[in-house]
Amino acid sequence: MATSEAEAFDRCVGVGGVALFPGDTVYGLACDPDNRFAVQRLYLLKRRPLEKPSAVMFFDLELAFATLPELGERTRATMRALLPGAVTLLVPNPAGRFPLACGEDRSTLGVRVPRLPLLAGASWPVLQSSANRAGGPDPRRIEEVPELIRAASDLVIDGGELPGTPSTVIDLRRHEDTGEWRIVREGAVGEEELGRTLGWQFHFDPATYEAEIRAEVPMFDRLQAELVLASDSGARRILELGTGTGETARRLLAQHPQALLTGIDVSEPMLAAAREALPAERVSLRAQRLQDELPAGPFDLVASALCIHHLDAGEKADLFERVHRVLAPGGRFAIADVVVPADADDAVTALTAGYDKPSPVADQLEWLVQAGFDARVTWEHGDLAVIAAQRFPPLVSSPAT
Ligand SMILES: C[S@@+](CC[C@H](N)C(=O)[O-])C[C@H]1O[C@@H](n2cnc3c(N)ncnc32)[C@H](O)[C@@H]1O
Repeated sequence: MATSEAEAFDRCVGVGGVALFPGDTVYGLACDPDNRFAVQRLYLLKRRPLEKPSAVMFFDLELAFATLPELGERTRATMRALLPGAVTLLVPNPAGRFPLACGEDRSTLGVRVPRLPLLAGASWPVLQSSANRAGGPDPRRIEEVPELIRAASDLVIDGGELPGTPSTVIDLRRHEDTGEWRIVREGAVGEEELGRTLGWQFHFDPATYEAEIRAEVPMFDRLQAELVLASDSGARRILELGTGTGETARRLLAQHPQALLTGIDVSEPMLAAAREALPAERVSLRAQRLQDELPAGPFDLVASALCIHHLDAGEKADLFERVHRVLAPGGRFAIADVVVPADADDAVTALTAGYDKPSPVADQLEWLVQAGFDARVTWEHGDLAVIAAQRFPPLVSSPAT
């Protein structure tokens, strides 16, 4: 049921008024996003140029989805993970919806769905912006809203003192295709928390990756060399999981000189660096998560260095089954990664909570066997391990005698 504030808010916006309201972050101004006069008045009150965009705020996520049917599945899933919450999400707007809120770029829409019990039940989306003069401080208390704005608003709702930090603005415009998300303006929700929710797709910076990984994993080169050994020789079709900047791919291509390699990684910036470093005629790279459907194959070799530990236990077991399906009979799966060591004192690699999720070698061997592999450890050092797993050749049925 709508609160009396929500009813008054709906009425004000519905008749073309401008409402001053307590948001989940700072005080805001709201009006009907499709009413040109109301929008012009709101912008004028703020002294905000009309070319600048404002977010459209929904008070119900399902209404946002119904109003924006063009949003893709992955983007919706991410929105469900983040909303309601103190974030503004920039999403693609191919249909040019809410043109008055879009400023000069009608292909992008800013979406807000706040956690706001005071306005629970408010029915319609509103165009909203913080209740300050353009460039002025964000008002945390109603008294901090400039006098003129307070006096000119058609409805004023005082919600007491608010947190005072504006929403974090996140660019999801390429998210559907690549999983990418980028913080455009820091705000109420920190990067750490977003990373936990969104899977840290952009944890690594290609420019600093090599120096960082060598500092974190001093045996980096040995680990790569052991993976190459475990990959055997003579593969012609390789799938690499977590290509990053191409360090592992480069070594695999040298070991398997006849091979073409398909590499997947969630991070488009890391893959852009790999594209520069690897021979284009032998390599095809795709931005995708390991958790999503793998390229079809069949592959002779699936290899991965320092990536699978980003999956939790269930995701690893599921991945191993899917790898088995894309391998040709007799094909090989080689993994080099950080693991949970038998002796806790060997856990020396720095891990980031929520992003690094290593598992014990014994568990991984068990999941590999369950998936149909013959698996063994080929190298171990502290909390690093290399596993070689062979897909059993198909049973050859003997001709009837
Ligand atoms: C430590 S790097 C390893 C790159 C390369 N194999 C090497 O050894 O240099 C890990 C890579 O895994 C990617 N990654 C992390 N989680 C992923 C996921 N769920 N799906 C796909 N790639 C992921 C990261 O973007 C990063 O490029």
